[in-house]
Amino acid sequence: MKRSFRSDLKWSDVTPQSVYLDRRSLMSAAGGALVAALIGGRPAAAKIAAKPSALSTSEPPTKFEDITTYNNFYEFGTGKSDPSQYAGNLTIDPWSVQIDGLVDRPGSYGLGDILAKVTLEERIYRLRCVEAWSMVIPWIGFPLADLLTRAGVQPGAKYVAFQTLLRPEEMPGQQMALLDWPYVEGLRIDEAMHPLTILATGLYGDVLPRQNGAPIRLVVPWKYGFKSIKSIVKISLTDGEPPTTWKQMQSNEYGFYANVNPNVDHPRWSQASERVVGAGLFAGRKPTLMFNGYGEQVASLYAGQDLAKDY
Ligand code: MTE
Repeated sequence: MKRSFRSDLKWSDVTPQSVYLDRRSLMSAAGGALVAALIGGRPAAAKIAAKPSALSTSEPPTKFEDITTYNNFYEFGTGKSDPSQYAGNLTIDPWSVQIDGLVDRPGSYGLGDILAKVTLEERIYRLRCVEAWSMVIPWIGFPLADLLTRAGVQPGAKYVAFQTLLRPEEMPGQQMALLDWPYVEGLRIDEAMHPLTILATGLYGDVLPRQNGAPIRLVVPWKYGFKSIKSIVKISLTDGEPPTTWKQMQSNEYGFYANVNPNVDHPRWSQASERVVGAGLFAGRKPTLMFNGYGEQVASLYAGQDLAKDY
């Protein structure tokens, strides 16, 4: 299998210098062999200094191999193994994120600059895909709120819009009319500022593989997976609800909120249970939890809203 980890990413560009120096000594102590660290299909030891998060689930993580070979990233095709097969040529260095709209300090922020000013955490989160499968993923990331606060959110900002890279020459799925490119997503400002909402730059203690949304992607654990937009190049603060790719495609099937909700079926299948990826053929399905099990933390955001209508 072709693995999409690449050595051309400059760690000095994506990691705070102290972490980078730590990593260099770690690497040389270990013989400098990233390849060796990947024996067995997953990094053997954490290579990004990230503090554990109290917000992590205690469920055992899905295998690295499953997380990195079974997922959706339509920019590389619609098959579950397409991202791992075709994302290898995506250039992720240099990378910058444009932050604009209702912010005090709009601009183009380099990834190195963004990472130099945040504390990275390991957050083990459940992912529930709208296609009724689930995984548990040890992300490395930081709260989106940290970045938005640095950019200076203006009082009139009510929503946050996100946009994925548009680069058909490196993203073969974008050469086809699968979706209306570029992929776009959005959150309400309180959802975006919630401490569970992170921007992830790694998983399993190492940099994010390209197929999982390198070099920076959103993770919103109480929402269906499609809200967690990958390979982000633009974040805009707006006063109105921004367009979102799947709602634009099929608004009767995919809404703006997309909160995990076992009581609201997808028009073509039930959302009451999920198949746990990697659990084996005979493991059976698991009941899906409201808000993917994060209700205690997020239910209050939707007080007074009819979540069957606001799906
Ligand atoms: N982001 C972009 N740009 N393009 C996509 O096709 N797919 C979404 C989401 N983010 C997608 C995307 C869907 S449907 C899911 S389930 C998650 O990514 C799955 O990816 P992960 O397992 O790497 O989190």
